[in-house]
Amino acid sequence: MKIAIQMVCLLGSLLLLGRVAGDPRSFTVEMKCGKQPQHNTTLFVPNFVAAMDSIGEQMQRSGFGKAVKGSGPDTNYVLAQCYGDLSLLDCVLCYAHARTVLPQCFPYNGGRISWMDVS
Ligand SMILES: *[C@@H]1O[C@H](CO)[C@@H](O)[C@H](O)[C@H]1NC(C)=O
Repeated sequence: MKIAIQMVCLLGSLLLLGRVAGDPRSFTVEMKCGKQPQHNTTLFVPNFVAAMDSIGEQMQRSGFGKAVKGSGPDTNYVLAQCYGDLSLLDCVLCYAHARTVLPQCFPYNGGRISWMDVS
């Protein structure tokens, strides 16, 4: 069993404008959670937090991050990427938001989240 968390920040530069203007309808958010419960909460949560921390640092540098934390059935795999036209600041903001939303998938062991500008 693998824990796979994929996060894709598909953000256009308009998203920040949408956020600043407080209009959430300028983009869509899609979140899909896995169907398999996590294996061991005691191990899952720290692995998840460590993976998300690692990704956060990478996102600040390059707008892309991947992390593998833990071992065996408690391994957390996280992948995050922003569109290249997004500034690093916007990318970090997107990631910060995704990070607060993704735990809603708990206790399932996987989730995918994406933002897409529709305007
Ligand atoms: C979860 O992992 C902890 C730490 O290794 C262990 O002590 C505990 O027995 C495990 N729980 C289950 C339900 O496997």
